Amino acid sequence: MVVDPWNRILLAQGDITHLKVDAIVNAANERLAGGGGVDGAIHRAAGAEAMHAACAKLGGCRTGDAKITPGFELPAKFVIHTVGPVYADGRSGEPELLASCYRRSLELAVNHGLTTIAFPAISTGVYGYPFEAATEIALRTVAAFLSASTAVEQVIFIFFRNADFDRANAIHNAVRMGHDSPLKNVPQPPSAVVIREESDDRGGSERVFQRNGKPA
Ligand code: APR
Repeated sequence: MVVDPWNRILLAQGDITHLKVDAIVNAANERLAGGGGVDGAIHRAAGAEAMHAACAKLGGCRTGDAKITPGFELPAKFVIHTVGPVYADGRSGEPELLASCYRRSLELAVNHGLTTIAFPAISTGVYGYPFEAATEIALRTVAAFLSASTAVEQVIFIFFRNADFDRANAIHNAVRMGHDSPLKNVPQPPSAVVIREESDDRGGSERVFQRNGKPA
C-alpha cells in the first residue's frame, strides 16, 4: 500500500462510463432523477430503466451528500451519486459543499469496501463552478482523505474535454508542489497521465493509462 496520497491519484482524459473501477461518481441532482452531462451519460450506459428504478428508491440526495447504486451494465461495479453545489458567488457555502461531495463519496466507497474510484469534475458543467477553483478543492480534499486513510488504493480524476485535462494537470502539479496560486507561473507538465486509445486488428479498442511515459 502506497502511503503518499499523491501516488494514489491519477488524472485522465476520457469518458467516465468506460472505466472499469469499483465505483464511478456521478454529478447528480438532488432528486437523483437523471439529467444531461455526465449524469445522462452514466444513466444511459448503465441502462436507464434499471438506474432510474434504483435511484427512485433512495429518496433523493442533499447537496454535498452521496448515495450508492449498482453499476448495472457499466464496467464499474457501483455508481456513487453525489450532488454538487450550484455556483452562485463562491461565498454561499459552495467550497464546503463541493469538498463534502468528494469526502462523502470516499466515505461511502470505504464503507462498501471499494478501493478504486473515479470522479468527474463535479459542478463544473451545468452547475457553473469555475473549473480552476473546483479542481483545486477536489484535489486537496481527496489528497487529505487519502492521507488519513489507506483504504482507497486509487482515485482517478477523469476529464471529458482535453482542455480541462490540461488545465487540471497544471493545477495538480502546482497543488502537489505546494503552490498557492495554481495557474500562475506554472509550466505545463511534461509528463501528463493520459489514457491512450489503442485499436486492435478486430476493430476493438482498449484504453491504456500512462504515468510519466510508462504504463501504470
Ligand atoms: N465522462 C466524464 N466527464 C464528463 C462526461 C463523461 N461522459 N460528460 C460530461 N462530463 C464532464 C463535463 O465536461 C463537466 O466538466 O462532467 C463535468 C460536470 O458537468 P455536468 O455533467 O454538467 O455536472 P454538474 O455541473 O455537476 O451539473 C449537474 O447537470 O446533468 C445535470 O442532473 C444533473 O442537474 C444535474 C446537473
